[in-house]
Amino acid sequence: MKETILPKILVNNQGSLMGRVEVSGSKNAVLPLLAATLLTDETCVLDGVPNLRDVDVMCRLLEFFGAEVTMDPAASRIEVRAGSIATNIAQQDLVKSMRASIVAMGPLLARTGQAGIPLPGGCAIGERPIDLHLKGFAALGAEIRCDKDESGDILVSASASHLIGAEVYLDFASVGATENIMMAAALAEGTTVIENPAQEPEIVDLANFLNRMGAHIRGAGTDNIRIEGVSRLHGAEHTVIPDRIEAATFMLAAAITRGDVVIENMLSNHVVPVIAKLKECGIRIEEDYNGLRVDATRNDFRATNIKTIPYPGFPTDVQPQFMAFLSTVPGRSIVIETVFENRFMHIRELNMMNACITEDGRRAVIKGGAKLTGAHVRATDLRAGAALVLAGLAAEGVTEISDIYHIDRGYDGFVSKLAGLGAGITRTKPEHKI
Ligand code: UD1
Repeated sequence: MKETILPKILVNNQGSLMGRVEVSGSKNAVLPLLAATLLTDETCVLDGVPNLRDVDVMCRLLEFFGAEVTMDPAASRIEVRAGSIATNIAQQDLVKSMRASIVAMGPLLARTGQAGIPLPGGCAIGERPIDLHLKGFAALGAEIRCDKDESGDILVSASASHLIGAEVYLDFASVGATENIMMAAALAEGTTVIENPAQEPEIVDLANFLNRMGAHIRGAGTDNIRIEGVSRLHGAEHTVIPDRIEAATFMLAAAITRGDVVIENMLSNHVVPVIAKLKECGIRIEEDYNGLRVDATRNDFRATNIKTIPYPGFPTDVQPQFMAFLSTVPGRSIVIETVFENRFMHIRELNMMNACITEDGRRAVIKGGAKLTGAHVRATDLRAGAALVLAGLAAEGVTEISDIYHIDRGYDGFVSKLAGLGAGITRTKPEHKI
């Protein structure tokens, strides 16, 4: 039997990172933008698209629905033309491999009057909730059904002959639910108001794109979004915003290696809490020509506490990387995770690298300052994987990270960009053994 050994990332501490690095387009922005192209039968063009596994999955999903997708990774450009919709039920393996597939539901519902999405077995809505997405569709007049097929998998579907604008209050400012409701409401009859929506920059980017397609959306980025429905949308061209989470990850790569790095193509106003917290630790951060300079060469840092909160609060997607950095800073730091209930899987791996972190529910206490040491560790999810790479850059000896497909989901050229800053980092090739 043939056995495949998956690629790994090997990290060897080669000192402080130095130089300039360019951030790619935002993963979390481009996924709903791609889904939004289903709202029109005309051609849409996206520029500044990052080269990522999640983007490939979303494009395959669009093709499955009947869209023609032309990818030009060299030009960071994708063209989509969803001339007609072949099916409005998503393919299970694609949905299973990427939770963000859910954002195709709003556009499909608005365009075809129906959308179905298979969820993994079990009481999927309870375990991985999409209740707020469904609450929004129901408020717009859709009938929601939850059916089990022969194999026990659940198909959630929404249907409505036509959607009617409504007031929707979100109990939690969910990013995906806000995007889904905005896209469905763009083609609804009348006015929709979303109260307590997510305010992330990716929401604003989506609203800008939808408005270019002919939608009437105001208030994106505030605590109240107002959508006047229109009867049809047309094709549009749009450039994806830079990835604020990738930018923050490079800021922390500079910090953990006590380096001096200029990060280009980033918007500092999208990472205000990360800048503030790094400054609190004693790191110098200043605007530089065409970028943001993070100077961590002084190395007399103080511990600090962070608490993740929906935007404009400290981003949950930077919590693992910040924790890796705090484990190298002398003193006691506390990290509180309020967005996700289970986002501390990286603690076990960091502790295998000689970090000293204890966990109690949603609170982690870091006794910082010990020298990290290389180990064989596993990327348990995307940002946890990035945190382990950063820890490896500061550790003594070699760190071997497995399950790096998680990292490929969300970082465009992570290894080569870090190597360009002087990191000792390589990626092994997959091996096939008989
Ligand atoms: C998006 C981001 C992800 C980020 C997250 C929070 C994308 C593709 N992904 O994910 O990187 O970590 O925002 O900033 O943009 N919830 C419910 N019911 C729902 C929906 C969500 O209870 O119907 C809960 C979730 O379980 C979670 C919290 O709300 O605890 C935040 O989830 P949400 O904002 O929806 O995150 P995503 O859109 O999935």
